[in-house]
Amino acid sequence: MDSLQKQFEKSLTISKKERYPDVYIYGTKAKHIAGGGDAEVFSVHLDNNLVAVKRYAIDARKEYQNELYFLNEFRGSSFIVQMLSNFEDKLYLYITMELCGLSVSKYLRQLSKDDKAIDPFVANRIIFCMFAGLDIIHIHEVIHGDIKPGNLIFDGDSIKIIDFCTAERVSFVKPKYVGTLLYTAPEILIESMYNTKADIWSAAISMFEVLTCELLFDAHNECNFEYGEQLPELSDESDSSEMDDEQKDDEEGELKDGVDDSVSDSASDSANNSSDQSDIDEDTEYKIIYRLLYLQEKLLGPPPSMFTFWAPRFYNSDGRLKDTPQTVYMCLREFINANFGEKAQRDYITADVIDILIKCLQFTHNDRPTAGQVLKSPYFQ
Ligand SMILES: Nc1ncnc2c1ncn2[C@@H]1O[C@H](COP(=O)(O)OP(=O)(O)OP(=O)(O)O)[C@@H](O)[C@H]1O
Ligand SMILES: [Mg+2]
Repeated sequence: MDSLQKQFEKSLTISKKERYPDVYIYGTKAKHIAGGGDAEVFSVHLDNNLVAVKRYAIDARKEYQNELYFLNEFRGSSFIVQMLSNFEDKLYLYITMELCGLSVSKYLRQLSKDDKAIDPFVANRIIFCMFAGLDIIHIHEVIHGDIKPGNLIFDGDSIKIIDFCTAERVSFVKPKYVGTLLYTAPEILIESMYNTKADIWSAAISMFEVLTCELLFDAHNECNFEYGEQLPELSDESDSSEMDDEQKDDEEGELKDGVDDSVSDSASDSANNSSDQSDIDEDTEYKIIYRLLYLQEKLLGPPPSMFTFWAPRFYNSDGRLKDTPQTVYMCLREFINANFGEKAQRDYITADVIDILIKCLQFTHNDRPTAGQVLKSPYFQ
C-alpha cells in the first residue's frame, strides 16, 4: 500500500487526462490542442473532416462574437485562418475552423529545446506571411491587436494569422490596454491612442523572435539590467503567471503536420511569455511596463517629448523615465552584435532585417511603415 506521503504526492500530480477529461463535441471525441482560459482549441472529426474547434465558455460571448465577426470578414483571405461554421449549446460557444499545424511559438520552443537555429528560409517565409496577412487586415481598417508567434500557425508552406478576439475596427479604437505585454506597442503600454501601426510594432518583435528565439525586450531577464540600473524588481511569480495558456499546456495535439507538439520548457520560455494582464496584479503590470519602456529607450534612444508627455505615470516632465538615474543607451545594431555575434548577423539578422526592425520600432506610431511597405524590403526579394 502507498505510504501517506506517496498518496499525498500522487494527489498533487494532476495527470493530463484529469486536466483535460474526455471532451465530446457533437458526439465526437475531441482532442485538446491548446488553451484553458476562456477558450480552448480542439481537433475533432466533424462530417468526416478533421477540423479545429475553438470552444468558448458561455460567459465569453463578447470575445466569441468579436472573433466570429472578424473571421467572417476575412473569409477567403490568404494568410488568415478560415472559419467553417459556428454553433452553441447550453455551456459553450463554438467556432469551427480549418485545422492547421503547429503555432510558430511552439515551433520556436521546439528549436530552442533541440538547441537549433531556425533555417533562414523558413524564417523569411514566416515573416513574409505575417506581414502579408497584416497587410490584408490593415487594408480592411482592422487592427488585430495581438500579433505574436502564438497567434501564427503553420499551414503547409504558409503561415496563417489566428485569434481575432482582440481585433477591432480602427474607427472604434479608444485608448486602453490590449494584447500581450511583451509584444505590445509603447503607445498601448502608456494607454494612448493607437491604430494599425501597433500591429507593426508587435510584428517586428515577433520577427526578431522568429530569427533568434529571443524576445527583443525581455522585461523578465535580469541580464538586460546588468548596468546597475535601479529598476523595479519583479517577483518570481510574475514570470510564470505571464505564461499564455498555450505554454501552460504541455499537450500533444493531433495536428495536420504531425510535428511533435509536446514542447514546453526551454531556454526560450521567457521569449514566449505573454501577458494576459488579467493574470497579474496592477503593481506587477506597472513594473513590467516600466521595464519595457526602459529597455525600448535603451535600444531605440529616448522617446520624443510628444510620447512622454502623454505618460506622466512613467515619465518626468523633462521626458526622462521616473526614478532611473541614468539610461544606458546601446543601439540596436550594437545589441545584436553583442548578443548574437557576427555570424548571426551574416546568416539571418542581416542588414535588411535590421533595417526593417529599426523602421518598425519607432515610438511615433505613424512613422512606422505599413505592412505593404515592409513587404517591399529587399529581405523578401
Ligand atoms: N485552426 C487551428 N488549427 C490548429 N491549431 C490551432 C488552430 N487555431 C488555434 N490553434 C492552436 O490553439 C492555440 C490557441 O488558439 P487561439 O490563439 O485562437 O486561442 P487563445 O489564445 O486561447 O484565445 P484567447 O485569445 O481567447 O485566449 C494556438 O496557438 C494554436 O496552437
Ligand atoms: Mg492566442
